[in-house]
Amino acid sequence: MIPIDFTNKVALVTGVGDNESFAWHISKHLAAAGAKIVLACHPRVVGIVESFLTRELDQESRMLPYGRGELKVEKIFACDASYDTMDDVPPEVKSDRRYAKFADYSIQGTIDAVGKEFGGIDILIHSIAFSREITKSAKETTRKGYMEALGISAYSLTSMLRAAEPYMTGRDGGACAVGLTYLGGEKVVPYYGGGMSTAKAALQIDAAQLASSLGPKNIRVNLISAGPYASRAARSIRPGEMEKSIEYAASRSPLPRAIEPEEVANATVFLCSPLASAITAQVLYVDCGYNVMGV
Ligand SMILES: NC(=O)c1ccc[n+]([C@@H]2O[C@H](COP(=O)([O-])OP(=O)(O)OC[C@H]3O[C@@H](n4cnc5c(N)ncnc54)[C@H](O)[C@@H]3O)[C@@H](O)[C@H]2O)c1
Repeated sequence: MIPIDFTNKVALVTGVGDNESFAWHISKHLAAAGAKIVLACHPRVVGIVESFLTRELDQESRMLPYGRGELKVEKIFACDASYDTMDDVPPEVKSDRRYAKFADYSIQGTIDAVGKEFGGIDILIHSIAFSREITKSAKETTRKGYMEALGISAYSLTSMLRAAEPYMTGRDGGACAVGLTYLGGEKVVPYYGGGMSTAKAALQIDAAQLASSLGPKNIRVNLISAGPYASRAARSIRPGEMEKSIEYAASRSPLPRAIEPEEVANATVFLCSPLASAITAQVLYVDCGYNVMGV
């Protein structure tokens, strides 16, 4: 038997926004391998995610692969990856009714709550990205937009792992984190502006730095560089454009097709498993090989 069994492992998954998010598929595949799934979702989408997890209409999307039943999560926490502690939250956000119903939605508060309630964290998934200026080219991006994209999409991994280190230390077989990146952090993808290309470049070196700092605690840190995928959020940014870039990549990739989100989820399960016990500080391309092409 291939030793992938996450029974009794606690997986904290960030970045589920709906039932098309990469993080949704990752949650399902981790759950199919037996992990306890705990979600940390942006405060504004907690209600939406709850309905995807319970509505009859969405039952099909909750079905786990390999006939392992239906996705059930232990708990959903609200977490806004802009804030390391509640001291960082500005008054206008604190009083916003979509936030005010949660006592602590900072990274530190969320990780502490998960770590204490579930007795530790074995797997941490970072699947968060945001740029207010995503439709702007890199040249037109403002300093404010750039810094915000960098903070939410890249620095949050460092903040999460700093907070999670005590809860990820001493886990049976070690612990691991997997984040999501994109080729646009290494090569010029013209539409990937608004600070996002810089954020992915930063995320990639940050993941390597974190792997080096946390390796002595047997905490592994890897990234998956996913090929383009028209998640609900990605489709809505520039209607029609995402589909075009998927077709473009598909027609030029060694495997001449688009990726499926389940393929990213499978690779995540592998990276979190004992089969990947010597793999850390790596970027694994799940992109049908597109990244190697010169033309
Ligand atoms: N879709 C693609 O083509 C593609 C390709 C490569 C990498 N990625 C990466 O995969 C990850 C997931 O993207 P996706 O395609 O599943 O889209 P998605 O929109 O479903 O996921 C992004 C998530 O980030 C969350 N988020 C945004 N700002 C946040 C904040 N301040 N605090 C907490 N959460 C916040 C959103 O709520 C959402 O759930 C991202 O890092 C993205 O850059 C996507």
